[in-house]
Formats: sequence, C-alpha cells, structure tokens
Amino acid sequence: MTSNTTCFTRPAFTSRVVPVIVLGDAAHAVPLAHALLEGGIDVMEITLRSDVALQAIEAVARAVPEMHLGAGTVTRAAEVRLVIDAGATFALSPGCTDALVDAVRSAHLPFIPGVMTPSEVMRARDHGFTLMKLFPATQAGGIGMLKALGAPLPDARFCPTGGVSPDNLRDFLALPNVAMVGGSWLTPADALAQGDWARITQLARTATALTTANA
Ligand code: 3PG
Repeated sequence: MTSNTTCFTRPAFTSRVVPVIVLGDAAHAVPLAHALLEGGIDVMEITLRSDVALQAIEAVARAVPEMHLGAGTVTRAAEVRLVIDAGATFALSPGCTDALVDAVRSAHLPFIPGVMTPSEVMRARDHGFTLMKLFPATQAGGIGMLKALGAPLPDARFCPTGGVSPDNLRDFLALPNVAMVGGSWLTPADALAQGDWARITQLARTATALTTANA
C-alpha cells in the first residue's frame, strides 16, 4: 500500500458525469470542450482510440485550461509520457497492469484504474488506488455488482462506465460507493461529425440536471 499523487481520491472536477470521447477530427476537440462546459460538465475523457487523440488533448489543454482533461483508454506504459506531454492531467484505463502503475507512479500522473472483479479491486487497492473505473459496468453486473462489492470492500469507490445512460445514471449515483459515472452518450458520433455543439450542450445539461437532482 502506498500513498502518492497518482491515487485519485478526490478529483478536482465537479461533474459527476465523465464523457467518454472518441474523436475522429482533432478540430472538434475545442468546440466540444466549450459545449460540455456550457452544459455544466468540466471533465473530458479523450480516449486514445483514434489517431488524433493526442492532438485533441493538446488542443484542449492549450485553449480550454478550465477543462479537467483526462486521457482514456491508456493501456500501455509508454502511453503515459505521451498523454502527459500532450497536456492530460489524469489518465483512465479499462484495466490495470503493473507496468501501467509503475509508469503513472514515476510520472506522478493521477490515474483511475479499471477493475471488474473483487480481486482486481483488491489489487488496485494494494497499489493505493481507492477510486476505480468499473468497466464494463453493465456487463460486470451493474448496480447489483456495485452493491455486492460495497459490502466486503466499502473503501473502494467507483466510476462505472459501460451501459450508463440518462435512464439509469441516477440509480448508479445513488449508491454510496459510486463517485461518478462515465459514458459515451454525451458525445454521439453523428453530433460530433456534424459539429452539432448545441445538441451536445443539451445532452450535458440534461445529465448535469440529473446528477444535481440526485445530490
Ligand atoms: C467505453 O469505453 O467505450 C465506455 O465504456 C463507454 O461505454 P458506453 O458507450 O456504454 O457509454
């Protein structure tokens, strides 16, 4: 068990919804960041699932410093330096490997590891992490799984991602061990392709209102 700056217990962002973003065009990153902020969301998870991800992170870091900028789908140790150099201030992963933990720790990069089983939660906790991404949340058992994990592992807190939507996000956020939720519904591919920032702001507003109503 170690205590260090990579263990993200209290993220600085206020939104309890983390948009999981796959960008096909780096030029969309800055208007998207503004659209999300306008809708009350001050965090982005820009995933390393496209060739333009690093460019997109760099653009937001430069132009929208008030946005809390996470790099998502960080699955290899070598990616840690790349996302830091691009300007990400934290990273998330669908899983957790020793190599990744070593890399984020050496770089002092706050990190939210992905977990799906009790042993993975315990392993992440052994590394000092208490905030984890439950991924894929619905396939892992969703609400029932989170309740079940809460009994033996009450100190673990989660960001369930995968299958979360406006229809169920309040149920997730009502659980004592859910700190926030993540999902792709806020940034639909067609809205991004069309540059429909008003639609994204509206989706963000709706999500923000749901999380506030739940608080
Ligand atoms: C992902 O990494 O793709 C997330 O789990 C998003 O899942 P969702 O599309 O179900 O929100």
